[in-house]
Amino acid sequence: MTRWTLAALAATFALPACALFSTPNPVKTKPFGVRKDGAPATLWTLRNGNVEATVTDHGATLVSLICPDRLGQGADVLLGFDDVSGYESTGNQYFGCTTGRVCNRIKKGRFTLDGYDYQLAVNNGENHLHGGGPRSLDKVRWHGEATTSDGAPAVLFIYRSADGEEGYPGNLEIKVVYSMPRVGELKIDYTAVTDRTTPVNLTNHAYINLAGEGAPTILDHELQLFASRHTPTDDTLIPTGAIADVARTPLDFRDPTRIGLRLEQLTSTPALGYDHNYVLDRDGKPGLVDAAVLYCPTSGRELRIATTEPAIQFYSGNFLNGQQGKASKSYPLRSGLCLETQHYPDSVNQPRFPSVLLRRGEVFRSTTVLRLSAR
Ligand code: GLA
Repeated sequence: MTRWTLAALAATFALPACALFSTPNPVKTKPFGVRKDGAPATLWTLRNGNVEATVTDHGATLVSLICPDRLGQGADVLLGFDDVSGYESTGNQYFGCTTGRVCNRIKKGRFTLDGYDYQLAVNNGENHLHGGGPRSLDKVRWHGEATTSDGAPAVLFIYRSADGEEGYPGNLEIKVVYSMPRVGELKIDYTAVTDRTTPVNLTNHAYINLAGEGAPTILDHELQLFASRHTPTDDTLIPTGAIADVARTPLDFRDPTRIGLRLEQLTSTPALGYDHNYVLDRDGKPGLVDAAVLYCPTSGRELRIATTEPAIQFYSGNFLNGQQGKASKSYPLRSGLCLETQHYPDSVNQPRFPSVLLRRGEVFRSTTVLRLSAR
């Protein structure tokens, strides 16, 4: 039966057409330019109902997420670039990438494991950030292929990071699967295995603007975080080891709150705005828990994030500098925000934080689900 016949049937029986169109479409591919090393980049498109996501093998990156507003008008809610050359340019601040091997910061790039001292790249003041230098996960080319995940169309990316790459121990094989199991739902599943104990902390670094990428600010968005505590940091954004309540601070997002309401109180702190790790209120619950709800009053779009991770970094785009993104649109300060599900920063040096160590014979697993709707 063709789509048109289905639509006609839906009209005849007065069924909402979306009820019939909720079956996911097959994955499509197209070229996404050529990397500096001469390798081609590919773009995969996943679609389910009226929501569409694209992903590329460069950095196993989430490139776009197109979803309707309350009037049914679609817009891409992720900052990014038109092809891989943008992702390899200096304007790219980890847009939509898979981030690691260890996302966020490691103090002075140092840690000790099984009696060996490791020194990683120092690429953020005196600290290590987002997996380091030229071979961090956001910069390498992953193997990509269309697949299915629990019956839903999906894209699988695989990368084998060699022992010693970016200074990390162990041969690490990482898989990232993007799938759209339901209308409006994008699921990201991460797995990894190693042949030697090594720290692993993976996230996606998508910059979101629910009014549509290129809209000037996210300060009008309302954010709710299911987190009563955060990990305070020193002047270089390394956790002190303490875990503090968000109550009575500008970090309190336990109830939906406009991001711009108290941001000014943070602009002269070392974080320059929101750039904080929130400890999720898991109450001992394993598996997926709600982490965040982001709402854009002008468009009516809402994003709900659930994760298996213990924490979420809320970053309010404090380093965006007007770089040119998709269709030459500019991305000024705070025109996008990141909600990065992850383990706490510098966990490898903080024995009281949940461990990020993966051992030989274990399987690292992490899932984050983004649910989009409009009201
Ligand atoms: C993370 C960090 C920020 C910043 C961005 C990238 O979210 O926490 O401080 O480095 O990445 O610009």
